[in-house]
Amino acid sequence: MKDKIIVITGASAGIGAAIARKAAAEGARVVLAARRQKELSEVAAACGPDALAVITDVTVRSDVESLARQAVDRFRRVDVWINNAGRGITRAPSEITDDDLDMMMRDNVKSALYGMQAILPHFKERNAGQILNVSSMLGRIPFFALRAAYSASKHALNALTAGLRAELRHTFPGVVVTTVSPGIVATEFGLNALHGGLDSRSMPGAQSVDEVADVVIDAIRNPQIDVYTRPVYADNVRRYYDDMDAFERASFVGPK
Ligand SMILES: NC(=O)c1ccc[n+]([C@@H]2O[C@H](COP(=O)([O-])OP(=O)(O)OC[C@H]3O[C@@H](n4cnc5c(N)ncnc54)[C@H](OP(=O)(O)O)[C@@H]3O)[C@@H](O)[C@H]2O)c1
Repeated sequence: MKDKIIVITGASAGIGAAIARKAAAEGARVVLAARRQKELSEVAAACGPDALAVITDVTVRSDVESLARQAVDRFRRVDVWINNAGRGITRAPSEITDDDLDMMMRDNVKSALYGMQAILPHFKERNAGQILNVSSMLGRIPFFALRAAYSASKHALNALTAGLRAELRHTFPGVVVTTVSPGIVATEFGLNALHGGLDSRSMPGAQSVDEVADVVIDAIRNPQIDVYTRPVYADNVRRYYDDMDAFERASFVGPK
C-alpha cells in the first residue's frame, strides 16, 4: 500500500471515507472526491498532508475528467481508481418512474463509466493500474423489491465492469478491473436513498465500514477481480443461481 496513489470517489462519508483513512494510514497517498466541501476536507485532514480533496460531481463527465487530470498532475501517476460514489432508491418496481430509473443509471452506472474512461488512457500508457467498482450484493441477487431500480443499476455496473475486463485482458493484462460487492453496510446510504428509507445503520447484520474497507485494501494488496465483503455472500450467489425458485421463496423481501 505504501506510496500507492489511490483515487476514491464518494470519499466524504461512509465506505469511501473509511477506505481513504485506512489506505492513508498504510502509507498510500489519496485523492478524495465528493460534492460536499466541508465533509471532504475533514476526511482529507484525517488522511494527512499529502491528501488531495477535489470537489467532484461524479454524474458530470467533465468533473470526473478533471479529477483524473488533477490526480495525475499532483502525483505524476495514479495506481488505483475506486468508483465508490453511489445512491440507493426506495420504490416498488410497479411504481418506478422514468426519472427514478434515469437517476439510478446516472448515479451508479454512468458515474463509474466516466471514472473508468477518465483513468483508462493513463493506465494503458503504463499497462498498470487497478479500477475497483463498488457494486452491491443487490447487483448479484435482486432480493429486495424496494431497491429494484438500484439493483438493476448495480447489475448494469457489473456488466460494464466485466466487459472492460474482457476488453483489456489480452491487450493490457497489467490493468486489473475489480468488482466489490458489499451487503448491508452501516452508513447513511439508506437515509440518502432517493425517496428516503430505512437507516442502513439500524439494519440487522450491517457490516462496519472498517470491515468493508479492510476487504477493499486487501483486494488492492492482492489484486482480485470479484470480491465479496463477507465470504458467505459468494456462497449465497452460488445458491441463488443454482436454484432461483428456492432461494426467492426463502430469502426475497417484498415491499412491506
Ligand atoms: N451502505 C450499504 O448498505 C451499501 C451496500 C452495498 C453497496 N453499497 C455501495 O457502496 C458505495 C458507498 O455507499 P455508502 O454506503 O458509503 O453511502 P453514503 O454513506 O451515502 O455515502 C455516499 C458517498 O457518495 C458520495 N456521492 C453521492 N453522490 C455523488 C455524486 N453525484 N458525486 C460525487 N459523490 C457522490 C457522497 O458524497 P457527497 O454527498 O459529499 O457528494 C458520499 O461520500 C455506493 O456505491 C453504494 O451503492 C452500499
